[in-house]
Amino acid sequence: MSLLDVRDLSVAFRTDGTAIPAVVDLSFSISESQIFGLAGESGCGKSMTALSIMGLLPQNAQAAGSILFNGTDLLTLDREAKRRLRGSEISMIFQEPMTSLNPVLTIGYQISEVLTTHLNLSKRDALEQSIELLKAVKIPSPEIRAGEYPHQMSGGMRQRVMIAMSIACNPSLIIADEPTTALDVTIQAQILELIQKLREERKMSILFITHDLGIIAENASRVGIMYAGRMVESAATAELFSNPRHPYTIGLLESIPQMKGARLRPIAGTVPRMDALPAGCVYSNRCSYVLPACRAEEPALLQVSQDHISRCIRAGEITWNS
Ligand SMILES: Nc1ncnc2c1ncn2[C@@H]1O[C@H](COP(=O)(O)OP(=O)(O)O)[C@@H](O)[C@H]1O
Ligand SMILES: [Mg+2]
Repeated sequence: MSLLDVRDLSVAFRTDGTAIPAVVDLSFSISESQIFGLAGESGCGKSMTALSIMGLLPQNAQAAGSILFNGTDLLTLDREAKRRLRGSEISMIFQEPMTSLNPVLTIGYQISEVLTTHLNLSKRDALEQSIELLKAVKIPSPEIRAGEYPHQMSGGMRQRVMIAMSIACNPSLIIADEPTTALDVTIQAQILELIQKLREERKMSILFITHDLGIIAENASRVGIMYAGRMVESAATAELFSNPRHPYTIGLLESIPQMKGARLRPIAGTVPRMDALPAGCVYSNRCSYVLPACRAEEPALLQVSQDHISRCIRAGEITWNS
């Protein structure tokens, strides 16, 4: 059984009586200790997927479908049950740690708070444990750092603190939403290495969200590519990168500058607004493989091979020569 099984998840925003979709019939699953990479351009629904799992969608958003976590549908849980699960069983690392850390409380206090809330530790034990966690995420002089405030740390160090908080209760799933996007390349590599190491030591699963396919290639074992709220392609990482079968994935691969052998060619046009999608295939207005049939109806997900799906009527014939 999968640890996380997202089935036909849809999220819509209600604005003046109309519902604008953000995620549409999205399905994927994550097994134990696996890193699943979710990728796609900005606005394609990655964060709304993450927030649906966390039970933290904005007030005006409504989710439908099911999100099975260890067999329990998270979408049916009440507020209190969701709150208990967050932090203890599932936790999240956000792009900008400054917005999730409290500026007026010390680092040690904030990590301790997670521990006292979920594990019933005394204040003293929690602080001791917080220092251990700062050590685990490789923060130098953890005893001193525990007494400091977020603004006294660099962006990379703050992200390490967020990671310490996210692993504090040994969750089985961590959702990392663009965790390194705000960091420079060297720090980014160090944070990714830390996340990999912790996952191995603690046998956690990770939903790794990024717009950067290069990061997915090096860190995830399976990938889902999202476009306009839909899953358009999903496969094992090696398979997806060597044998992409959706024009959007090919477009993304060709726009990565560091991909070996690939010419740098950004995808033409921009992501359409969710309330003004083209008819038929949502990618048809940017697609260089488009046929008249693509504009008639939205394609279903086609099984390319046993473990590889693509939402393209030409999935069977497309080949990519990088
Ligand atoms: N608070 C909100 N109200 C209305 N629409 C929103 C809100 N937040 C996000 N959206 C819409 O939801 C869609 C998905 O956004 P998001 O999941 O944040 O994308 P990503 O994380 O892939 O960049 C976008 O079309 C965005 O405009
Ligand atoms: Mg996002």
